[in-house]
Amino acid sequence: MNYNDSDLKSRQDIRYTLMEIRKGRNTMRLRNIPGAKEAIENSRFVVRQVQEKKGAWHRIFGNERPIHIEVGMGKGRFLMEMAALNPEINYIGIEMYDSVLLRAVQKMEEKAAEGEVLENLRFIRMDARELLLVFDKNEVDRIYLNFSDPWPKERHAKRRLTSRQFFERYDQILAPRGVVEFKTDNKPLFKFSLEETEEAGWKLMAHTFDLHHDPSMNEGNVMTEYEEKFSSMGNPIYKLIAGR
Ligand SMILES: C[S@@+](CC[C@H](N)C(=O)[O-])C[C@H]1O[C@@H](n2cnc3c(N)ncnc32)[C@H](O)[C@@H]1O
Repeated sequence: MNYNDSDLKSRQDIRYTLMEIRKGRNTMRLRNIPGAKEAIENSRFVVRQVQEKKGAWHRIFGNERPIHIEVGMGKGRFLMEMAALNPEINYIGIEMYDSVLLRAVQKMEEKAAEGEVLENLRFIRMDARELLLVFDKNEVDRIYLNFSDPWPKERHAKRRLTSRQFFERYDQILAPRGVVEFKTDNKPLFKFSLEETEEAGWKLMAHTFDLHHDPSMNEGNVMTEYEEKFSSMGNPIYKLIAGR
């Protein structure tokens, strides 16, 4: 299946997008920022020709440390904080929109100008439906999904990053003891994700309906941009950890 920005153009999608904008979500991706493509193309933090890197990601980092990825990383705040806290882990952020990825690249440039270069963090601009073209079997040790798009229409369920179709992809690239960690404030999406974990034949290793008030699951929690925003509005944060 192929889809692109023009998929957003159905009437129902436009209505949903406007609703999300009113709620303060998703505005970042709708902006077409001039020069974004070029800035990304030229950034040392963005890996290009990614299909050629399949099976060779450890070489990109120059070490054999575990690789953790965030699918749909947005502006990358979560990964930048994780990379600074855990230099023994290599992180890769995946984002499909230039305008959003540009923000992450700019933040990395700002950090570098201040003398902080996160050697253990790289970005890829791609649609996560192509994960299998980019990562080899067992190449990834952990997958983070944070505040993934809900795709509320039933016929778009396959696009949700916690659908069984995505779990099949994760199964192909994730090391045997690897896990998927998913956070959201969207209750229907969380319920769907719990069901899909089971449908996909994965094990639900832990879950909570109120992460910030769950001392054991919240220990060491690094907040994402969306998490900060929606928890400050009083929304509870849901989290699940799934493995096989
Ligand atoms: C709602 S934002 C959340 C951003 C960030 N993870 C956070 O928690 O602050 C979801 C992001 O996932 C990206 N995204 C959605 N589907 C994707 C896909 N199939 N491949 C890559 N990125 C995707 C969107 O472009 C968007 O930037």
